[in-house]
Parts: sequence; structure tokens; C-alpha cells
Amino acid sequence: MKIKNQLDMHNDYLIGVALSAKQAEGSKNRSLTVADIQDFNPQNTTKVKGDFSLEEIMDRVNNPHSYTFPKKTGINFYESYKSDLKLLNELGIETLRLSISWSRIFPNLEDDNPNEKGLAFYKEIFELLKEYNIIPIVTIYHDDMPLDIALKYNGFTTKQGTELYLKYAKTVLDHFHSYVEYWIPVNQINLTRVGLSSMGVIKDTIEDLASVKQQGVHNKFVACALLKQYAIDQGYNLKFGSMLADFYVSPLTCKPEDIELATLKNRYTMFYYSDVQIRGQYPQYMLNYFEENNIKFSITEDETELLSSYPMDFIAISYYNSNVVSAKQNSFAIGDSVLNPYLEANEWGWTINALGLYNTLVHFWDRYQTPMMIAENGYGAVEEPGENQVINDDYRISYIKDHLDMITRAHKEGIPVFAYCLWSPIDMVSSGTSEMRKRYGIIYNDLNDYSQGSQKRTPKKSFYWYQKVIVNKNK
Ligand code: BG6
Repeated sequence: MKIKNQLDMHNDYLIGVALSAKQAEGSKNRSLTVADIQDFNPQNTTKVKGDFSLEEIMDRVNNPHSYTFPKKTGINFYESYKSDLKLLNELGIETLRLSISWSRIFPNLEDDNPNEKGLAFYKEIFELLKEYNIIPIVTIYHDDMPLDIALKYNGFTTKQGTELYLKYAKTVLDHFHSYVEYWIPVNQINLTRVGLSSMGVIKDTIEDLASVKQQGVHNKFVACALLKQYAIDQGYNLKFGSMLADFYVSPLTCKPEDIELATLKNRYTMFYYSDVQIRGQYPQYMLNYFEENNIKFSITEDETELLSSYPMDFIAISYYNSNVVSAKQNSFAIGDSVLNPYLEANEWGWTINALGLYNTLVHFWDRYQTPMMIAENGYGAVEEPGENQVINDDYRISYIKDHLDMITRAHKEGIPVFAYCLWSPIDMVSSGTSEMRKRYGIIYNDLNDYSQGSQKRTPKKSFYWYQKVIVNKNK
């Protein structure tokens, strides 16, 4: 018997693409965000951004001769959205996952009212998507904390920063609830870096980092629940998603210690977050962990009640690769893993493993029986157009094909995956390293790491292939 899905599934699943404001729009007509000051550092592109002192950051931002700040430029989607969306409509996508830029809606910390120009920009996008029959899936916060809030309130780690998020998020719901049904309040809630990205913090030294981080995570949990409560109270008929970056790890060997580490890491770096957001309460293993590690944060009875009353409606997963862990070599920290010796990897060491996606879907489904979507999945490569400006990205085609096959396989088992969003439609600035050369797009964008280029969009071979996949899916 096929299990009935809890969300409507449109033609089995919606197929589309995903992008984010911080990597695409550019900073015109908005205030600066923490993402804008993540520079491209040609000496060390792998250095995790945010590892700089406040003084160093401000010095770089204010120094016109400093390295480029590619996210400030983005790919100029703010001005080219009409032609970009036209191209995506030609591609035939059924859904577009995009994010809204907080600093476009409330450019100044003190603003009581939202910026009409910012709202008008997204309204135009949603109108256009409606005309094209493309269903939007919207991320409210995709790691682009307004700089002012990061400087004054340390982003999500404080009550004030979180309240400002809620003010912004409620404004967005009020204005766009009739256009958008599916909402992801925060991108990848299990990536909890207290720095320029997820938490939106600019501070040289933080005492008791583990507690501060947990407070930020908790504030996000509460904000997501409050947002859902708000939508229900207002009579908006919306669905909210808990979004996780897939960090599912397997043991490197069958040594019991490796197996144990994999089990524990999967709990602490992934399932903990969805346990709270889907099951509606802190799991006992996490409460023990806080106690054993002297992690202290504020959690009220009202908040506990709120979390259990307003769980998220679906799980959104970004899946790129998979890794393994060894008790000898790896710690508990998220992302601390070793390469799976059986897999190939791209230039950035991101392994290629479509079976891992199936594995992940099964684990989540078996644990929660909650509908899921693939919020991001894609392949980053260095690419230069060849003859006649063509890019024959067969490796990307086979990557996408293999991953889509896993969704079909999951569907056959009654696992409700209601959307697949390819990262990314157009080459964009890398989130992690601010490079342009890490190209995920099925449309080439003529722009280099130093913000030079015509920004001309040229479909790659994968564009035409994906176009056919979409047509055939609905036959
Ligand atoms: C996801 C982010 O974690 O990974 C995206 O939500 C990001 O914003 C994607 O672009 C790929 O990461 P990167 O660093 O290769 O751009």
C-alpha cells in the first residue's frame, strides 16, 4: 500500500532550481550584510570566512585596494532578474527556491517600517513567477545577517537580534503569504557557526562559545515556532520547513569505535535539530550532552510549550556529498570527517555519491514520516567555455541524473519528496569561499573571482538536458 503523502505532491514532485539573495542579488539598494564582507582571498580560498578580527574585517571593507568582496556584487540578479527568470521559464522549471534579503526589507536597524522599494522588488518577482506558473519556495534567512545587527546585537545569539529577525520575517509573511505557500525560516539550521555566516556575529572573542552557540540555535528554534504560530493566528495557510545541511556520516571501518562515532555524530550534528523542530522537544541525549559539557542557555517553559505546539511541517535537505568518520582521526565537530576511499571527489574534495542521497532520505523518513524536499543538490566545477562558447558539462548531467534517480527510488517506496531544487541555475558566488570559479550553474555566467566579466549568461549542455528531463517527467 502506498503511504499517503501529507503535503500535496504536484506531478510526484516539483522540479526546479535554487539560489540565494546573498550569492546572486548584489548589494544595490540595500544595506551591507555579514555576507558582503566575506572576501575572496586568492592566497587562501579555503580559509573559512569569519576567522578574522573585527579590526581586520572593517579595515578590509573600508580599504578600496583590498581583495574583492564578491557577494557585494553577486551576479547582479537584482537588476537582471527579469531576463534571468525568463531564461528559467524557458528551462521549464516548476519551482524556484529563492531567499529574501533582510537588509533590503529593513535596511536600517532603527527602521519601524519596512522599505517599500525592497518589498516591491520581491512582489515583482512573485508576480512574474505566478505568470510563469513557477511555484516559489522561500528562505527567509539565508545567512545574510544585516551588518548593523551583527555588530550591535551579535545576530541570533541574543534576544534583540532574534526579535529583529521576527519583525522582518513577519513582515515578509504579511506581504507575501498569498504568493508563497512553502517557507524555510532559516537556511541549514544545523550549521551553527558563530561567525559571519549562520549566526551573524562579528566579535573578536566570545567567552563560553559552546553556550553562546547553543543559545543562538535555541533562539532560531523558537523564532521558527513563533513564525508558524503567527501564520496560523493570522489565518495564513502556509507550510514551514526545517532545513538541514546533510552531514550524515558512515563509519570508515566496522570497528565498533568508528560505528559509535558515526552514530553519535549523526545525532549531535543533524538529528538533534530535526528532533526539536519536527518532534517538538529537546531529545534526552542532547540534554545530557549540555549537562556533561556545562553548556548553559536560557529556555523558558513557554518556549518549551511553543516548540511542541508548533513543529515544522516538512524537512528540507541540502545534499551535495557524503563522508565517513574514524574514531582515531575525527572529533565530534560537524564536518570533521575523512574522505570515503570508494568515492571520487571534485576539486574541493566534495565526494560524489548519489546513493548517499537515498540513504539520507530513508533515514529521515524512517525517523519522522514527514514530507521532504531537496532544497539544494549540485556539482561545483572549474569551467571555461570551449569552442563556440559551449560548456559540455557531462559530469554535471550524470551527477544530477544519478541523484534524481534516487528520488524516483524513494518515491517508489512511498517516501514523499515533494520538490527537488538544483543548486544552481546560474553560476553564482560560492558561499564558503566567495569564489566564482566554483561553478554550479547550468547557465554559465561570464564573471571571474575578481568581479570582472560581462556577466553574460550562456546555457551549458546541462541546461538543455535538464529542460528535457522536466518535459519528460510530466509525460
Ligand atoms: C549550501 C548553502 O550549504 O551549500 C549554499 O546553502 C551554498 O548557499 C552551497 O552555495 C554550496 O556551498 P559552496 O560553498 O560551494 O557555495
